[in-house]
This record gives sequence, C-alpha cells and structure tokens, in this order.
Amino acid sequence: MKRFESRNAHFDRLVANPDLRWMGQNTNHVPAHPAVFEAMEKCIRDEGFHIYAPPVGYEKLRHGIIDDLGLSGMAAMVTDGAVEALYHVCHTLLQPGDEFVTTDPTWNWPMAFARSKGAEVKQIPIYGEEYGYRLSAERLAAVMTAKTKIVYLVDPNNPLGTACTKEEISAIVEVVRKAGAYLIHDCTYRDFAFDHTLAATLYPEKTLTIYSFSKWSGLAGLRVGAVIANPDLLESLTASPPNNLGSNIVSQQAAMAALSIKKQWFPEVLRITRENQRIVKEACDKIDGLVVPVFPSNGNFLVVETQKLGIAPEALVAAYQHHNIMIRQGAYHTPKFGDRFIKVSISVPAGWVEEFAHLLPRVIEEARTLKIDASNF
Ligand SMILES: Cc1ncc(COP(=O)(O)O)c(C=O)c1O
Repeated sequence: MKRFESRNAHFDRLVANPDLRWMGQNTNHVPAHPAVFEAMEKCIRDEGFHIYAPPVGYEKLRHGIIDDLGLSGMAAMVTDGAVEALYHVCHTLLQPGDEFVTTDPTWNWPMAFARSKGAEVKQIPIYGEEYGYRLSAERLAAVMTAKTKIVYLVDPNNPLGTACTKEEISAIVEVVRKAGAYLIHDCTYRDFAFDHTLAATLYPEKTLTIYSFSKWSGLAGLRVGAVIANPDLLESLTASPPNNLGSNIVSQQAAMAALSIKKQWFPEVLRITRENQRIVKEACDKIDGLVVPVFPSNGNFLVVETQKLGIAPEALVAAYQHHNIMIRQGAYHTPKFGDRFIKVSISVPAGWVEEFAHLLPRVIEEARTLKIDASNF
C-alpha cells in the first residue's frame, strides 16, 4: 500500500471512532453556539446550496473578517481553510531559486508548498531555552539574503505556544521590510493569545495575514479561512485562484454566524481552554521527568517534553490512542526537535482533559512496553 493510502486509512479509522477524544490537531470541541447551527440549517432547508458563492467570499463575511482583525483598508479573500490561502500565496509569489524562511518548529505544509515551486526553505531553530522558544529579529536578519522572497511566521507558534510581543514583531517586520520580502503572518491561533500584534498594521504593503475559522470558532471540518492583504496585493492573488467558484456556502453561513456571536461566545471558550491548560500542567508537574517548557501557552495547545522520561513521544501517542485519546508527537512538527515532546490540544470539554490527566501515570507505564509503528501518525 502506498504511504498516502495507509495514512489516509489511519485517519479514516480515527474519524470513524465516535468515542475518540481529539486532542492532537488543535481543533475546538466546545459545543457550537445555536446561531451557528441555525445558519447552517437554514441554508440547507432553503436549498441555498444549489448556487456558487461569490468568487472571493460573501461580502458580509469578507467585511466581518476585516472588522474582526481591525484591519480597515485591507481586503480579504475567503478560502477553503487557512491552508488553501497558504498554498495559494506560496504558489503565486514563489519562483524557483527564491528563498522561503521560517522557524523550526513551524507549521510544515507551507514548506512543502514552497519546495514544490522550487524555492529553497531555510529554518531558524527556536526550540530550546537558549532561544526562549521564540524568533529574534537578529537571528532572522542573519539568514536573510537578496533571494529571500517570503518569511513565514506562525504567531502564536504551533506547537510551542509562544507569541511575538509588539516589540518583537516590530523588529521582525523591519528586517523583512529591509529585505523587500513578503511576510506571511499566520494568525490562526491569534484569539487564544494573551496579547497579539498584527504585522499588517506595521507593514501593510507586503504582509499577508492568514486567518482560520477552524480553531477559535471550531469549524475545522467546514473548511473556511482567508488571506488578508492590501487591495493591490490581493488583486494579484485573485488572478488565478485555486477555487474561483467560491468556498462552500453552508460553511460561509456558519462562519458569518460565528462572527456575529463571537463577542458573547468566545470568552467562554477561552476560559475553558485556559482552565484546561492548568489541569494538564498540574498533571505533568506531578510526574518527575515531564516538563512543560512554555507556560502559559498562547495557543489552544501545550507542548509537553517527554525526553527526560526516556519515552519516545510516539509511544505515548500510541498508548493514549488505546484509551481513545488522540495527541500529537513532536515529529509531526519537526524532525530536528520532534523526539523531545508531545503536543496536547486543549480547546475541548473539561472531561477530556481530566481523563487525559487521570490516565497520564498509567499511560506512561504502558508506553514503556509498547512496540509502535509511527509511520502513519
Ligand atoms: C499554523 C496553522 N496554519 C494553518 C492551519 C490550517 O488551518 P485551516 O484548518 O483553516 O486550513 C493550521 C492547522 O492546524 C495551523 O496550525
């Protein structure tokens, strides 16, 4: 069987398991607001799905995204999830021989998109106390060359949970501006951050802000996201989009409804997520050898280091899977640092996190004895 087949079959088994607690993909499992159900139901009842949506999204949704970010003067293109926005930006802007700079760890798919266009990918390690788990402008400046076309910054960083301070992002933007490069500011986890500054406010000319409805609003399976840029830059991105027939209509209705209730609904999601962080941290603190290197996290996830226990992250992932809990091994994010940690997603019902915490000592013992095949994870 080809690797893509076996990997797909693995995920097919996971999605077919109604009892699985999804704590590995940073999805949001807090029950949706009734307004979101109502919007989708109405669209289906009225058979609103026979038509195509406007090519770059419902105007109401586009404006709602801009308002949510507070980026007036910018324009939004709605995409089938943030990942499609990233794919499209990389494919439109990169040429063979360009350089694409990002951190290690980062979110991996944009590196694959860049490589597929013949660009060279450069990663700046940020995992470790010596780096404070964050990117400094000085270290970015040191790798920039005349060939650097794109800097891709995941902020808050997935998986680390660090977010740039205003001073840090200002300094990073200056480096990117000086090089004349584009900055892809992937703000997928922005709503979970304690504090966050949009690079687009500092570098409107060449910042592409990436927006997702998968995490804060819990619509991952509906596939809605956006890229936001100044209208001139967006004009060039709309010339040959991957989906000129518009994103899913039911999904866009859900996204508009989610925006309309965000102010009243999301604070509770954040409260649950932060409380869950505390529960996971306390459970880890009770076990000698487990370390939570970044706390509190600015994302809906936490990195937990397993290295001192002498257990492979993949073994813990497999052991938890036997208890119907999905977490992620570090290697999913980074071959270089991946043997050090697991990642636990926490925008989930409290019961899931309590079960994770309760099982932790037992799962560690089970993981010690497991033989694992991690090729599909
Ligand atoms: C940093 C980052 N960007 C983008 C995405 C993809 O988001 P979407 O579900 O909107 O495609 C993810 C998903 O995990 C992510 O972690």
